[in-house]
Amino acid sequence: MASDVVCGATRSLASSLIPLRGQHQQSAAPCADELRASSFLHHSFRSTALVSQGVAARGRAAPRVRCVAEPIQKEAVRTRVKRNVNLGKLQAGYLFPEIARRRNAHLAQNPDARIISLGIGDTTEPIPKVIAEAMEAAARGLSTLEGYSGYGAEQGQGALRGALASTFYKGLGVKDSEIFVSDGAKCDISRLQLMFGPALSVAVQDPSYPAYVDSSVMLGQTGEYDTGVQQYRNIVYMPCTPQNNFFPDLSATPRTDVIFFCSPNNPTGNTASRAQLEELVAFARKNGSIIVYDSAYAIYVEDDSPKSIYEIPGAREVAIETGSFSKYAGFTGVRLGWTVVPDELQYEDGFPVIRDFNRVMCTCFNGASNIAQAGGLACLSPEGLAAMQELVAFYKENTRMLRATFTELGFSTYGGVNAPYVWVQFPGRSSWDVFEEILTKADIVTTPGSGFGPGGEGFVRASAFGHRKNIVEAIDRLKKLYGK
Ligand SMILES: Cc1ncc(COP(=O)(O)O)c(C=O)c1O
Repeated sequence: MASDVVCGATRSLASSLIPLRGQHQQSAAPCADELRASSFLHHSFRSTALVSQGVAARGRAAPRVRCVAEPIQKEAVRTRVKRNVNLGKLQAGYLFPEIARRRNAHLAQNPDARIISLGIGDTTEPIPKVIAEAMEAAARGLSTLEGYSGYGAEQGQGALRGALASTFYKGLGVKDSEIFVSDGAKCDISRLQLMFGPALSVAVQDPSYPAYVDSSVMLGQTGEYDTGVQQYRNIVYMPCTPQNNFFPDLSATPRTDVIFFCSPNNPTGNTASRAQLEELVAFARKNGSIIVYDSAYAIYVEDDSPKSIYEIPGAREVAIETGSFSKYAGFTGVRLGWTVVPDELQYEDGFPVIRDFNRVMCTCFNGASNIAQAGGLACLSPEGLAAMQELVAFYKENTRMLRATFTELGFSTYGGVNAPYVWVQFPGRSSWDVFEEILTKADIVTTPGSGFGPGGEGFVRASAFGHRKNIVEAIDRLKKLYGK
């Protein structure tokens, strides 16, 4: 049985030793955990009465220690470490935490609100059984001598790399050895940025998935944020609007070292056509740029738009491609993605980019979870592929319903055919205002377009990831809110 020990006499000492925990102590809560956790304190008190009461005795339950002395003044302790100036450049929170903050504030004021999220773009439907069962078997295997495995190859399991090559890159000349399996596309984007380093220039679609710009800022590739134009300096923002059919005017785009390009696009839901991607590849080849092609939604493509940049001749010398199981199989929590770096892709000095990416992966990553990889392999089996198609078809039906609703309500509505996102225009209005309006009047979370870059101002994104009954209910509420 732990006995209570009153540590009033030592309180000021404890406070000064671990001042950042002062709050805990001020509440006079039991502080035994702190005493146990701090070997420094443990030794400091060896000669005190606490020791004789058993605090330091090995193998015996430590007593509960109550701190009852008057709270002493909290000492503000700071390190002498300078903050990374690049992190200081970032504006507000990352988009989705900011949305969550506003949603929670709304809920705090309206505790009975039944909020429906068409916001963050997280999947909602269960992972297909055939895929979950493969992960279950892999997890069970880990508890057996035969099935146990520890660290795997940083590049991923050979079988999965092979299956990715033969399933998604069939006939495109992508080799198993060019595919790096990972814990997701977002992480790969950051690791690619780490590989590129701070000294190069970057272009992004505007609007675009925020990870490109934010990782670029963090790496030091950009200047400060210009509040006037709402852009970071030294990033080329390529406007993608209804006027240019969501494909940038490359004739007006300056050369950059790297071009982040996402198709089907998040957030606009638009897909680049073959002719447009040919133009993009030709642009990169002419300028000696590297395209980072984000194909996280390729499986949603239902027309003849390319699903991979490697469908475009000449792309292997100028493009990296990243992909993800997140939106294919509900792996947003499981975490599994991949990046393709072709052997032919070289820096200006002829050094192969793949060797640097391999080095980055081996240094910063220790291989994707073996359970997740078993799931990935199951995704690529004939049954898994069929199950993923069924899941995607479900979300696509949600998208169709949302798109039809916004169109019927008189809004100009884009995307939503080859992607799980509908991009809805509210001309002349601030997208955060529209976000607030839909949140406060209909208890629906959307994503304000301006969170994806200044080009998203005047739009909101509606995500089709949702249970059908929620989508139906959201549609009903939207009709009440905006119906004539
Ligand atoms: C365009 C795009 N790329 C990458 C990701 C992240 O993928 P992952 O879950 O594999 O990190 C997302 C997720 O929403 C995305 O929209």
